[in-house]
Formats: sequence, structure tokens, C-alpha cells
Amino acid sequence: MITYQITGGINGTPKIPGDKSISHRSIIIPSISTGICEINNILKSDDVLHTLSAFKSMGVKVIEEDNKLIIYGKGLNSLKKPEKDIYLGNSGTSARLLTGLLSSQKFNSVLVGDKSLSKRPMQRISDPLKKMNAKIYTTNGSLPITIEGNNLISNNIEIEIPSAQIKSGLILASLNTDGETIITENKITRDHTETMLNSFEANIKIEKINNKKIIKIRGKKELVSRNIDVPNDLSSSAFFIVATLINNNSHIILKDINNNETRNGLILALEKMGAQIVLSNHRLNNDEKICDMEIKSSNLDGCDLGPEFADLMIDEYPILAVAASFANSPSIFRGLKELRVKESDRLKLILLNLQNCGVNCKVENDDLYIFPSKKYEIKKNIIQTDFDHRIAMAFCVMGTKIGPLQIKDSEAIKTSFPTFQNELNKLGSKIF
Ligand code: S3P
Repeated sequence: MITYQITGGINGTPKIPGDKSISHRSIIIPSISTGICEINNILKSDDVLHTLSAFKSMGVKVIEEDNKLIIYGKGLNSLKKPEKDIYLGNSGTSARLLTGLLSSQKFNSVLVGDKSLSKRPMQRISDPLKKMNAKIYTTNGSLPITIEGNNLISNNIEIEIPSAQIKSGLILASLNTDGETIITENKITRDHTETMLNSFEANIKIEKINNKKIIKIRGKKELVSRNIDVPNDLSSSAFFIVATLINNNSHIILKDINNNETRNGLILALEKMGAQIVLSNHRLNNDEKICDMEIKSSNLDGCDLGPEFADLMIDEYPILAVAASFANSPSIFRGLKELRVKESDRLKLILLNLQNCGVNCKVENDDLYIFPSKKYEIKKNIIQTDFDHRIAMAFCVMGTKIGPLQIKDSEAIKTSFPTFQNELNKLGSKIF
């Protein structure tokens, strides 16, 4: 894919797809609940489709209509042993959440993934699950993973790495475990699992003490299905927001965007940078906060973001780094260690690709420094993505300002946003 420089700005009202995190949970949770769940606006991207085919392979009845999915849930113990290994493609969320869920089922299963997923760390989920007596065998700490379904023992578990995937895997394991499991999160991460389980009548109690969260789940309580309207994804919106901010004569409106406080660090960071973003029409949708957003071209300032931002916007650093490259002053983004174990080593690729675009930047102790200039001289116009969708989309946006840039392995974008190119081109970009 090649992304060209534009002059006419980014203008319009793009259709942002459903939230990826909520879409995964909208398949997993209704599949183990009782009753029928109609899901509207679910994201049909590769990652989510892998979660869907996993549950179909475990006997869940699903009817698919255009923008709708109907899941017939039959309870906590209704899943069947899949006939084959469960293939999860590129999806870390599916892998961590399913490891938890399947460890307290009655059958054995094997999880496999693509090249990138097979390199990602899985002991971060298998180790805490083993504290509940889970029988999980990783391959040198990664996929393939063999899970021997087992009666788990409830326990008191403190999560060491801030991660919604680890937390969610543990919560899902606890749902089918006798007694009360207590999970302590020392740094708050996205809470879609807890929110959805609460509305599905799980026995889940949450206490917040400063930035610490204690989640208590009493297992073996059947969940009751509800219909779900998936809000539009803030992480996918981020590419359109930054494309609008950095290009002149630009103005977009985004509708029904997820504005969950455990996820919206990007908006807070961009506001600190002086971005013209107006949020309106705040409301609740299935207990998730949503709103509309209006964004205009802006003169951005640089900013110094502490590590606390990383938990609230971990997926948005690639595109924030692009925004910072067009600010009036330097930026420092601190504490980005977790970026190294995402779909790629994102810290390495942000640095490499920005430097190839001519941006003066460096990484020191997991902190990213960006020293913007008024004009960039591209050193190498091929963007290395290592099949990472967010690196590909972030540098597409970079190309709208300084292109042409050739984005390698751009088909990776389908993992989260299959209509990305089309939607951005409708607004004025030139990506071919
Ligand atoms: C996700 C959690 C985050 C995020 C990922 C989706 C989720 O990962 O990076 O894209 O849906 O729970 P971690 O929990 O590992 O930080």
C-alpha cells in the first residue's frame, strides 16, 4: 500500500467500526451465558472473526446477519471439546482470554496462532492461572498452548503486569470455579469484561482504592444473556483524529465513540497538546460511556506524558508519535515497556520508521523522545510493520503529511479495521 501526501485536508464523517475489545467480549460472554444475545455493530475484523470461529468450533450456535450476530448461549458448562486446535491468527486478546476461560472447562484444548502471535508472551496469563491449579503447557512461554481443562481452586491473585487481557483471562477462569476468587489490579486497565459481566448478572464485586482495584468473583453462577450494541472504537478513531489534527483545512465528526475512562488516554494527551477536540452528546450504551467527537486541524504543542498514561492508551502510542512529529515542541512519552510485546515490538518500529521518515527521535529506558521539525527529508520511504496493524495505520497517516510512503504488509490492517483505507480515502486521503 502506498500513502501519498495530501493538500486538500481530511473532511467528513467517517464510519468507525465497532470496538475490538468489546467485540471479543460480546462473543465470549454470551457464549457461556444462558439465553439469546443479539449483538449489533460487532467488528467483523480478522481478530474478532477468529474468536467467533473458536466458539463455533466449541459448538456454540451463532446466526450471522449483515451487521448483527445472534448467539445462543447455553451456560457456563455448555462448550464442547473442539475437534481441532483452535487457530487465533494474530489475536493476543483471544489467546489470553481463551486461556483463562478454557482452563476451567471440562475438556482439553490447544491454542495456536500466526507467526507474530506465536512469539508473544503467554506466561503472563498461564502463571497466575496456575495459582488456581490450572494445567497449562506453553511452548517456551508462547503459543501453541495446551490446556487441560480442570476444576480450578479459587484464590487471591495479585496481577503484576498491568494488562486487561491478563485480568480478563483470570476473571473468565473464575466464573466456572467454586468459591470466591479475588483479583487485585495495582494499576487500572480497561474494564470492559467487568462491565459486561456485571450486566450479565455475574456475581462480581468491585472495590476501587486509589489506583488499585479489587475484583471479587463468586463462581458457578450462571450468567443471563442481554442484547449488546457495540460502541465505535476509540483506538480505530485515533488514526482519523490525528490525520485531521496534523493536516491543514481538516474537520471531521465521529459518532458514537467509546469514551470509557479506562481507555481514553489519547484524548487527554491530545488535549494537553492543544488539539481542537470537542466531545458532545455524552451517554451510556450497555453501561459503556460513549460520545460524539468533533476534530479540527490544530497547532499542536509537544508534551511530557508519564507512565500512568500507558495503561490508559497503550495501543495509541504509534499514532500519538506521529502527531508529536508535527508539534511545535519536543515530546517525551515515558514508561513504554509494554509496547515491546504487542503485535510487534512497537517501540522499535516507531523509532525505526520515524527515523526513516526523517524525524529526530530516540528511546532511552523505554521512554520515547521526539524532537519535531518544520520539514522532513525522508531517508527511506518503506515502512516496516512486521505485520502490525497499528504501525501500518499510523504510518499511513504519516504519509498523508509527508508521503509517498510505502507500507509493507498492509493487509495486517484487516486484523482490526478492514475498511480503514476506504474510509480515509473518502475523507480526502490518497492511499492506494
Ligand atoms: C486489550 C488489552 C490490551 C490492548 C489490546 C486489547 C483487550 O492489551 O493492547 O489491544 O481487549 O483486553 P494488554 O491487556 O495486554 O495491555
